[in-house]
Amino acid sequence: MPTLDPLLFGEIDPPQRLLMGPGPVNAHPRVLRAMSADLLGQFDPEMTGYMNQVMALYRPIFGTENQWTMLVDGTARAGIEAALVSLVAPGDRVLVIDFGRFGLLLKEILGRIGAVIDTVDAPWGEVVPMDAIAAAIARSGPTLVACVHGDTSTTMAQPLDGLGELCVQAGALSYVDATATIGGMEIAADRWGVDVVTGGLQKCLGGPSGSAPITISDKAAAHIAARRHVEQGIRRDDIIDGAGVRIGSNYFDLAMIMDYWSDKRLNHHTEATSMLYAARECARVMLGEGLEARYARHAAAGRAMTAGLRAMGLQVFGDDAHRMTNVTGVHIPKGIDGERVRTAMRTHFEIEIGSAFGPLQGRIWRIGAMGYNAAKHKVLITLGALEACLRMEGFALPAGEAVTAAMAAWDV
Ligand SMILES: Cc1ncc(COP(=O)(O)O)c(C=O)c1O
Repeated sequence: MPTLDPLLFGEIDPPQRLLMGPGPVNAHPRVLRAMSADLLGQFDPEMTGYMNQVMALYRPIFGTENQWTMLVDGTARAGIEAALVSLVAPGDRVLVIDFGRFGLLLKEILGRIGAVIDTVDAPWGEVVPMDAIAAAIARSGPTLVACVHGDTSTTMAQPLDGLGELCVQAGALSYVDATATIGGMEIAADRWGVDVVTGGLQKCLGGPSGSAPITISDKAAAHIAARRHVEQGIRRDDIIDGAGVRIGSNYFDLAMIMDYWSDKRLNHHTEATSMLYAARECARVMLGEGLEARYARHAAAGRAMTAGLRAMGLQVFGDDAHRMTNVTGVHIPKGIDGERVRTAMRTHFEIEIGSAFGPLQGRIWRIGAMGYNAAKHKVLITLGALEACLRMEGFALPAGEAVTAAMAAWDV
């Protein structure tokens, strides 16, 4: 055996970074503690009891009464992929509402599924007006309309009231990726009238990445069940296959995943126990705080961050009317190297802020205040550190005004 580097045997002991980017963020300590609880067998009554509790805990978080509210194992993208591959068969027409990187991701996944994709879009930094969506639905005649709620790449939140009604009138199902907003901005699956919404833990829910909460309307569940083809080794007489096209993924087959989370307890995958504990604790922390208080705290953090950045003389990115509350884009000032500032923030202050993708790469930073980190002192510390790092890079700014402005804006 070759000699292994002694460092490989060192304990994991990461530095105490303050994660103020677009996610992941620092997990709530209660969530980390829950994750260290002992494991259970997947059909142990305690375990199936926890699964049922998770279903109940996530209904208010999604703003729904949907029976099918549960977890997909994997990062948020697993939830997106499970939703799309289970709702869409090759050749189905899908309309994507695209206003950033994650709209493009929906198209990428749908392309792999073999969907016929139509798009209604907006430039990065804006959202798509509802009348443009209505016109696109009428033009396209889709079987599914897919959309992102808050797109962290642009920091914009797409208004969704009325979307479901447009889809119902057109006979289409609807899907929303709420990864970046769940836990921080209101998710109103039932009021929006949308069929499937998915999320992730690592942003405003204040957990680690690796579990994707999902909610599915009865109508979408029936559509998915019609595509059920239980894998051969676990077929049972009480679970009948549907006549629809088989779902193009085994792992992300929501028909089998629903059967696993139902009283049938179909042995599909082995539920990721520690991630289920994490998801359960994220929800308990959130509901303990109260939905309104939680959303107000994120709004205060976003308001304070925006006010502080502006008081520093920086230009905030995007359309003010549709800003996500939990992540703010800000232009990198002319002549400043954005990556040097990010490195200085990390080196001197142990703070991470985000860079950007695609057309915004090198043009904006993305600064988040989400979940456990949507706290007044963390916003103020981040602004103070950014001010110091910008000054080190020779950027002239009014000393101390960012923190003062942020404090005033927090309490408005
Ligand atoms: C809006 C949105 N959707 C999807 C994802 C993908 O999530 P994950 O990296 O957990 O798969 C992200 C992550 O940043 C996101 O912001």
